[in-house]
Amino acid sequence: MPSRRRALHTRQLTFRQLEIFQAVAEAASFTRAGEALSLTQSTVSTQVRKLADVVEAPLFELIGKRVYLTDTGQALLDGSRELFGALDRLEERLAELKGLQRGTLKVAMVTTAKYVAPRLLGPFCARHPGLDVQLKVGNRQQVIDRLAANADDLYVFSHPPQELDIVAVPLVDNPLVVIAPAAHPLAGRRRLRWRQLQAGPWLMREAGSGTRLAIERHMARHGWSLMPRMVIESNEAIKQSVASGLGLSILSRHTLEAAGSTGLAVLDVQGFPIRTRWSLVHLREKRLSVVARAFLDFVNEVGAQVLSPPA
Ligand code: PGA
Repeated sequence: MPSRRRALHTRQLTFRQLEIFQAVAEAASFTRAGEALSLTQSTVSTQVRKLADVVEAPLFELIGKRVYLTDTGQALLDGSRELFGALDRLEERLAELKGLQRGTLKVAMVTTAKYVAPRLLGPFCARHPGLDVQLKVGNRQQVIDRLAANADDLYVFSHPPQELDIVAVPLVDNPLVVIAPAAHPLAGRRRLRWRQLQAGPWLMREAGSGTRLAIERHMARHGWSLMPRMVIESNEAIKQSVASGLGLSILSRHTLEAAGSTGLAVLDVQGFPIRTRWSLVHLREKRLSVVARAFLDFVNEVGAQVLSPPA
């Protein structure tokens, strides 16, 4: 079997011999290869001769003072480069796996995204059980402050800041809908007009909230207005307040998927939902950790599937 015979030959080569041979071939000089590897010229020559014995053919020709590769030498050089390339890739992969066995993923996200983030983080942690995840949740301004301070690996926003140099990967739609108490007289009516609702009274998120920013932009675009009666800093508290009849509000539809959403109705209003979309963001200059890169890859792979928007 000829292939078996070849295998027996080449497996007698050592990595060290190949390294020395490659240095000679690339420097076209035994002396310079010896200097580069801190070896005497005779050690270099001995190792190259041993290699030539193994492959049963000369590797170099000396013409004048110059060293030329023979065809066998060229084949060995090609094989050696491939082999060391494969070893480099193996080393990188092993280092990555080590990092993925006990790294930490730091993510900060806006309040609305926390309703869907577990759908991504759950399967990612199941795939890499040794990882820790540190999850911070805040309003848009608080998450921007963390991004500007380079406090985390990755961030989730509906409205990534324009003023910072970032990379933003679109994730999934985050529609904002008008909510009312289930018993509201307009609940169940079709195609309501904004002026039927304008008087509210309206419960609004605080300044710094991305939800509020999206509502204000939407109002300005349509020439509408909305006077908040109460400012409430939490989506959950807004839901409770709306359900108990304190007023109407505009919130991410995703917040309604969570528990505590009974007693609420989504109103069918012309010009709604307000269409926003989350993005996964990092600073352009950020040196992403192995774990953060793995999470980005994971999001690219399964994000669209697990984060599909609510009907
Ligand atoms: P926030 O999140 O209202 O809590 O800032 C909103 C968003 O940007 O989706």
